[in-house]
Amino acid sequence: MIIYLNGEFVPETQARVSVFDRGFLFGDGVYEVIPVFGGRPLRLAEHLERLTRSLAEVRIDNPHDRSGWESLFTTLLEKNPGGDRSLYVQVTRGVARRDHAFPTGVRPTVFAMVNPIVPQNPAVLEQGVAAVVVDDHRWSRCDIKAITLLPNVLARQEALDAGATEAILIRQGLATEGAASNLFVVGDGVIVTPPKDRSLLPGITRDLVVELAQEAGLPLMESTIPEQSLRVAEEIWLTSSTREILPVTRLDGRPVGAGVPGPVWCRVHGLYQDYKARLRETA
Ligand code: PDD
Repeated sequence: MIIYLNGEFVPETQARVSVFDRGFLFGDGVYEVIPVFGGRPLRLAEHLERLTRSLAEVRIDNPHDRSGWESLFTTLLEKNPGGDRSLYVQVTRGVARRDHAFPTGVRPTVFAMVNPIVPQNPAVLEQGVAAVVVDDHRWSRCDIKAITLLPNVLARQEALDAGATEAILIRQGLATEGAASNLFVVGDGVIVTPPKDRSLLPGITRDLVVELAQEAGLPLMESTIPEQSLRVAEEIWLTSSTREILPVTRLDGRPVGAGVPGPVWCRVHGLYQDYKARLRETA
């Protein structure tokens, strides 16, 4: 694999970061994950806007303008040919002696890599996945895509340990999102997803799903989701760049709705696949 690191494209074995990097010492940085289908990044402008916003919120200078990011990604994709992939890009505050205060005169560390997107197992799409409900132990700025992901890591592992695929996080009685995904529920035929605020990441897949559902005339509401609504939901979905729209068919060991991916999921999953197919055609 060829890695981008601070202006250079190098084999992964040669990509080295200092132990004084603030990403390593403090988790002081932000990141993005951008899916690429048929060589075309999905919603690149939106991903770059979110990266710009994350950087501004944590007061790290954006090392590139939009065209700089685009040419970096294009070169990295050319150097790592393959099928469907995701771009991972991380910017940390840089390398400095350990001190909580911002260092002066350092340049951000910029790292990017390409990973394959593993096609969804057909069994998952037929049967759905299991999820568990766990307490949200994260900070109060979950809208920033920070690399500091320890609570997310712990929540996800709690799900795996319980034989499930993902954790749904509960904060003050409300279901906010998954450990690495956004949340949708269907109740009385209406699709509901929590409004974008500081308690969750403004997912690019989430926004695309909202847009596709609305264009198709499906009833959709942005509204908070009390934990109890999960228990009586007809359908639950989790969305992310790498896992698209996952139907959750078991919650804490009990079936969700009929215990199989529901009709509204089938419809929206189809719309998403059509969107991807159109993206590939523009390549
Ligand atoms: N995570 N919420 C959280 C906490 C996430 O980490 C993610 C994605 C999402 C979905 O956002 P998007 O649709 O823009 O991918 C929501 C990425 C994939 C990750 O950390 O690998």
